[in-house]
Amino acid sequence: MSSPGTAAVVGCGVIGAAWAARMALSGIDVAVFDPDPGAEGLLADVTDNAVTAWRALGLPTDERGTIDIASSTAEAVRDAEFVQESVPERPELKATVLEAIESAARPETVIASSTSGIRPTLMQATMTHPDRLVVGHPFNPVYLLPLVEVVGGEQTAPTTIETAAAIYRGLGMRPLHVRVEIDAFIADRLLEAVWREALWLITDGVATTAEIDDAITYGFGLRWAQMGLFETYRVAGGAGGFRHFIEQFGPTLEWPWSRLTDTPAFTPELIDTIVAQSDRQSGGHDARELERIRDRNLVGFLKVLEANRWGAGTTLIEQRAARRRAGSAAHDEQSH
Ligand SMILES: NC(=O)c1ccc[n+]([C@@H]2O[C@H](COP(=O)([O-])OP(=O)(O)OC[C@H]3O[C@@H](n4cnc5c(N)ncnc54)[C@H](O)[C@@H]3O)[C@@H](O)[C@H]2O)c1
Repeated sequence: MSSPGTAAVVGCGVIGAAWAARMALSGIDVAVFDPDPGAEGLLADVTDNAVTAWRALGLPTDERGTIDIASSTAEAVRDAEFVQESVPERPELKATVLEAIESAARPETVIASSTSGIRPTLMQATMTHPDRLVVGHPFNPVYLLPLVEVVGGEQTAPTTIETAAAIYRGLGMRPLHVRVEIDAFIADRLLEAVWREALWLITDGVATTAEIDDAITYGFGLRWAQMGLFETYRVAGGAGGFRHFIEQFGPTLEWPWSRLTDTPAFTPELIDTIVAQSDRQSGGHDARELERIRDRNLVGFLKVLEANRWGAGTTLIEQRAARRRAGSAAHDEQSH
């Protein structure tokens, strides 16, 4: 299955709303359930952002699927060909919700969880049909960033992984199969290391939130949008390539420059410091404004990468080609 006709999103916060928007913009009819009455407003705001972003990318937005608000998990998933669970990151809540999903969904429906780091083996331990659970870990904003980490647990069927990956490809995404199951998968393991060092820099009074963000956004953050760690370091090694890079910088790991794995405690003082510094840094913009600024910048990066046929731009090229093929197939069907 490359693209289901119907899907369900259970949990409609920041991530669930953006999944629903990406699915609907890809022509899928989506049913959404969230017990919070505020979820509908958030869904409308996120869908607006997604439509604006897709228009700016030049992707079609008029052949949209519908988004229906269901009154229960069972109602949302009953007719869905694919389910994306996106409730808060609490293992006991995920277990209850997965139970509700699988007791109402069709037996063949693949159930994906958006979890940022819980191993699927743990989540499927209490399920009746654990073979159909897979992790599909996306990145915010889900309607713009193509990466989705696909992770199977010990009981996940290989066909479940293949089906989920094909569905994500149909949504214009880049599924990355995380072959070895570990906590936090690949991307959040890397991000946690950076986050931990940033917390130490603040705790030790070395840098403020704004200074740390400048260190990222004026330098290596720009590089990382187009080449990852290894390709960047290869280039840094010049003609000598990676071997020369390791000869030059390998010893710094033994000094070492970073704080290894110990983590600063979130004391009330540290939390107050981060919140106050972040307010000074970004308080001039409200949350919606920051989202729009982020989206405009991401659209610009993606367009450049597409023009250069590089990195995440290649996903956009494939997505555009798939939409054209789908459009001409629909046109051919109408003219016969
Ligand atoms: N925020 C991120 O950047 C991010 C990125 C990738 C993955 N994730 C993962 O996505 C999942 C959702 O995260 P989020 O940031 O959207 O959280 P969130 O708190 O913004 O949204 C969660 C939503 O789930 C709803 N909910 C609570 N109980 C429910 C239930 N029983 N049934 C249905 N809905 C219920 C809440 O009302 C809320 O609207 C988590 O597993 C998280 O780890 C988050």
